[in-house]
Amino acid sequence: MDRRTLLTRIVQAFTVVGTGFLAWPFLRSLVPDPEPERLEVDLAGLRPGEARRVTFRGRPVSITRRVEFAPDPAIGLKDPDSAVSVQPAFARTPHRSLREEYLVVFASCTHLGCEVSRSDAPGIGFECPCHESRFDVSGRVLEGAVALYNLEVPNYRFLSRYILELSV
Ligand code: FES
Repeated sequence: MDRRTLLTRIVQAFTVVGTGFLAWPFLRSLVPDPEPERLEVDLAGLRPGEARRVTFRGRPVSITRRVEFAPDPAIGLKDPDSAVSVQPAFARTPHRSLREEYLVVFASCTHLGCEVSRSDAPGIGFECPCHESRFDVSGRVLEGAVALYNLEVPNYRFLSRYILELSV
């Protein structure tokens, strides 16, 4: 290898390495940051009857401080015991939550995923604006709805009296 070829190779090597250093920040920016695996929510200011909505891993989560949580026996439910709906084992209770007072559900309709809104109608907790599925105060889907399943309950726990932690 003559001197000229050697110099050319060295310049080429520096060019490749330099380009890599310059391109790295750009390439990194194309990769989205990983979604957080935990989210703490402070419920201290939430009064009875109020709700808060947060986003966890790209999905809306509704946290309601309920004033009513007992199932209304007059309302027909498709899956009253959440036998086929998605929820952690701890939420397999009549009120579908760790503490009766708070309902924590993903606010995505189990039909096609539209974001549900809260309802003030007696015994009704949520309504879907897309095809009118309705859910009771514990997120259980009502008879007659096109949605088949209750609103999904995320995994969560209470770190203290008012600090709730959502996690995967
Ligand atoms: Fe909610 Fe269809 S997406 S009823």
